Amino acid sequence: MEPIISPSILSADFANLERDITKLKEAGARWVHVDVMDGHFVPNITIGAPVVKSLRKITDLTLDVHLMISDPKKYVSDFIHAGSDIITFHLEAQSDLTLDIIKEIKTAKKLAGLSIKPKTPASAIEKYIPYLDLVLIMTVEPGFGGQKFIHECVQKIADIKEYARIYKKDNLYIQVDGGINNKTSKICTKLGANSLVAGSYIFNSDNIKLAIQSLCK
Ligand code: DX5
Ligand code: ZN
Repeated sequence: MEPIISPSILSADFANLERDITKLKEAGARWVHVDVMDGHFVPNITIGAPVVKSLRKITDLTLDVHLMISDPKKYVSDFIHAGSDIITFHLEAQSDLTLDIIKEIKTAKKLAGLSIKPKTPASAIEKYIPYLDLVLIMTVEPGFGGQKFIHECVQKIADIKEYARIYKKDNLYIQVDGGINNKTSKICTKLGANSLVAGSYIFNSDNIKLAIQSLCK
């Protein structure tokens, strides 16, 4: 099965998001990855729920929202109401509230994702697997596009795949984000990733369609 590619608009032109999302759709993308950063959980600030709401009006692509924020509990309802389809937040943000937040997302009939940073082991997420639709393994320190893929993280893909088998979660999305290109994509899919986020590789290419296709091979 081909992985689902989720192009990250972090590398798009923020003054031309509609144009860039239309390009992604024409290139065959089904998901769009939206990186939300609060300048606190990560050392960068991007966009919030009002932008997701505007994007919802101009696209029917799956809005795959990645919250890199310190207080997901406080803001998750804003992202639900803005029209996100998938909401992924970080285990490292408010670990005592993780299950509450997952349940809030599920009650709203959205897909719930949980992400781990490069230094967090896969075992930290195991107990949440039965409740999740998606696990996002970061292969760079979250905060910026265009960083180098951290190879030491890849074993976690196989670990999560094994958890999915143990907990009979056949439909779990195992997503990888950070430093994905036409080489690192192969390493990830071989180990069991079925969704790949890519920002700079896609948007810096001359041909977005070919770039997306090259991640599926
Ligand atoms: C980084 C973000 C990524 C980013 C990936 O914190 O979560 O989604 O856009 O960018 P590339 O693909 O350039 O590594
Ligand atoms: Zn991301």
